[in-house]
Amino acid sequence: MRIDKLLANMGFGSRKEVKQLLKSGAVNVDETVVKDSKTKVDPNGQKVTVHGEEVIYQETIYLMMNKPPGVISATEDRAQETVIDLLEEKDRVLSPFPVGRLDKDTEGLLILTNDGQLSHSLLSPKKHVPKTYFAKIDGFVTEEDAEAFKQGVTLEDGYLTKPGELVILHSGENSEIQLTITEGKFHQVKRMFEAVGKKVTYLQRIRMGNLDLDEELKLGEYRVLTEDELDRLQDGEVFSR
Ligand code: URA
Repeated sequence: MRIDKLLANMGFGSRKEVKQLLKSGAVNVDETVVKDSKTKVDPNGQKVTVHGEEVIYQETIYLMMNKPPGVISATEDRAQETVIDLLEEKDRVLSPFPVGRLDKDTEGLLILTNDGQLSHSLLSPKKHVPKTYFAKIDGFVTEEDAEAFKQGVTLEDGYLTKPGELVILHSGENSEIQLTITEGKFHQVKRMFEAVGKKVTYLQRIRMGNLDLDEELKLGEYRVLTEDELDRLQDGEVFSR
């Protein structure tokens, strides 16, 4: 495995930051300074240190799931099926957990990982990671609703949401929309529509940062993130659109 990938996975920063760390001479492999980020190391057989501290390698896992309705975004539950129950045993052994939550009846893009740092940066309110949802709405969605979402709407508990970008795909008795929000309050999309007197009847997350739901994945299916997808997530490019 490349030394830069190993260090990025172990939480020493993005690939770019890790490159700088290597250049600075802080990294040793078997007591020899390694500066080239392309250097291959065997994490189980060689001793890697950063500023003299040994790096204990833990295998990481990054999955993209098309969450089906009817399962909960938790790691375990006595009564209900969880997204972890949908994983094959070989993927479960690395103890991945869902990055954030989708409601039981919500479908779509869910990232599962055992990388606490990545999860934290995707969920941190400070990072404003955009999340895009496709939804079906009972009732006519109007440009006034789009304008209201742009300003932020007040939820029933008095919370004023950050601006949301509403795209009306179809307006009718049953409307279809896309909504992008940068926060993740409990039931946020449903509550934003309630704030304008409408009800969400179907909800699917289609995008998180710059990561799109793979349309090839059927409900309940999942796959490992590609190197490119993971690099973009770890480099934080996921936060810019
Ligand atoms: N907003 C909701 O209302 N539900 C979800 O599952 C996600 C966002």
